[in-house]
Amino acid sequence: SAATSEKLVELAKRRGYFFRTSGAYGGVGGFYTFGPQGASLKGNLEDAWRDRFAVAEGNMEIDAPTIMHEPVFEASGHLDGFDDMLIECPDCEASSRADHLVEDNTEYEDAESLPIPEVEAVIAEHELVCPECGAGLAGVAVEDFNLMFATNIGPGDAQPGYMRPETAQGIFVEFPRLKEYARNQLPFGVTQIGRAYRNEISPRRSIIRTREFTQAELEYFVDPEDDEPPLERVDDVDVTLYPASEQEADDGAAIETTIGEALEEGIIGDPWVAYFLGVAKPWYASIGVDMDRFRFRQHLSGERAHYAADCWDAESEIDGNWIEIAGFAYRGDYDLSKHGEHSGDRFTVFKQYDEPQTVERAVVDPDMSYLGPEFGGDAQAVVQKLEELAARDRSAFEGETVEIDLEDETHEIPVEKCGFAVEEQTEAGEHVTPHVVEPSFGVDRTVYTVLHHAYREDEVGGEERTYLELEPEVAPTFVGVFPLQGDDELVDEAESIVDDLRAAGLSVTYDDSGNIGRRYRRQDEVGTPFCVTADFESLEDGAVTVRERDSTEQKRVSIEELPETLSAVRAG
Ligand code: GAP
Repeated sequence: SAATSEKLVELAKRRGYFFRTSGAYGGVGGFYTFGPQGASLKGNLEDAWRDRFAVAEGNMEIDAPTIMHEPVFEASGHLDGFDDMLIECPDCEASSRADHLVEDNTEYEDAESLPIPEVEAVIAEHELVCPECGAGLAGVAVEDFNLMFATNIGPGDAQPGYMRPETAQGIFVEFPRLKEYARNQLPFGVTQIGRAYRNEISPRRSIIRTREFTQAELEYFVDPEDDEPPLERVDDVDVTLYPASEQEADDGAAIETTIGEALEEGIIGDPWVAYFLGVAKPWYASIGVDMDRFRFRQHLSGERAHYAADCWDAESEIDGNWIEIAGFAYRGDYDLSKHGEHSGDRFTVFKQYDEPQTVERAVVDPDMSYLGPEFGGDAQAVVQKLEELAARDRSAFEGETVEIDLEDETHEIPVEKCGFAVEEQTEAGEHVTPHVVEPSFGVDRTVYTVLHHAYREDEVGGEERTYLELEPEVAPTFVGVFPLQGDDELVDEAESIVDDLRAAGLSVTYDDSGNIGRRYRRQDEVGTPFCVTADFESLEDGAVTVRERDSTEQKRVSIEELPETLSAVRAG
């Protein structure tokens, strides 16, 4: 029901999962603070991600700064292209995302991919109004709005800097060093968990769209010609896929299949993307995402980011809407090529041949004077063009013509006349620009999904109860320990149990306020899987009552065996 999110956000605030930042000053849109429970859940999810995507996959992890200077974002394309469509109300000056406005009020589902004039036309045609004050927006200009937060590095404005809009760039710019750590061997992966910043025009739905959030990203560098993923590990993984073709069809629907079949039938084109979808799906299940409310959706061609050749999103269902919680993009050589061009450094890996090879290389005769007067003083420009061609196309050129555009005129020159010569050279290897496959997870949206999918209401002993059916492995608090009453001996016993459980590495909360039923409810609401109560009998028989959250079943367990028994459950 739509109310689940409302109830969840209220619970999150009351019980310390998350709440709007700086409430004392009225709060500020798009910023949230994770409270004690939320910080712990988020940390556990990050650890689980690290275990799976860094440790178990044998990938490296780095931790880069969140502010980077301008050349990085010039090269990455973010300065030019990381824009959303902004429309400002002429009456109340409220800012809205023009594409969201169109999607919310018309039949368009993917307005982001429309050109600005078309969005303006749709707004006029449908007589759309400002969501804040109701003023008409027809005729109002839609503008590109860059989402990066700008700042200055050092005093003055000589050195502009930006808060990173994705953690990925912190990995890409260090590629020349990281490849050394990988001993120049492809494939290899680098992960990073950290903050990203986007000056979202309209932050919405609590922590789902914020201006500061956490990403967990893996940049996996592959040789596009030689490397293949270990698909046998994920072949049988069941997935729900919603490919672009189905989204575009009138009666299209998501498809239930396996990773192996989806690849075979060409539903997923790239084997590396398929591999990471296959790794991600069971991981999401393990942290408590409901697999009946989870799917992978392919981006429509107009929807993809400026760098992506293909992209699938992991989506979770929240109150009847599908929200993107992760993206799996095939970025090709876009990022490394750009950083190579802009920095002049080597964003390539030297791939050694098994044996040195004799190759034919096209070389350009620098003396182009014989080309004739029609090229006038442009001989040097022709040489430059030809060198570019020679570098790009390494085959022999005989019988071909080369088209050269000079000052708006196209010249067709037979190759033999161009001073190309083919020379034999011996080479030990070649420089390859790796391609990048990128699983990129939003941690905040994962937190939200895990909480939403765990939210339960039932009745216990004739009373309504709310509880979070969190997986024990990620629950912020693993066990609550209570003395039945405030009696000294019981308190001592309970405190000594707390010490023993903490020494076993479990996260424990101690509570002696209110009646026992209320203490159970409190732990149920934050999703604590177990509660342990020391009662007067405990002082006699050395055992305590252990109550399980979901079933509310109670069992007597010996105090001595308690740390071991509970640790085993925590370990899964
Ligand atoms: N490096 C690729 C990249 O940044 P993205 O799809 O823009 O791709 C990845 O972002 C993930 O980050 C998204 O799937 C989403 O979970 C999360 N994310 C993006 N913008 C967000 C925002 N404003 N608030 C919260 N999470 C966000």
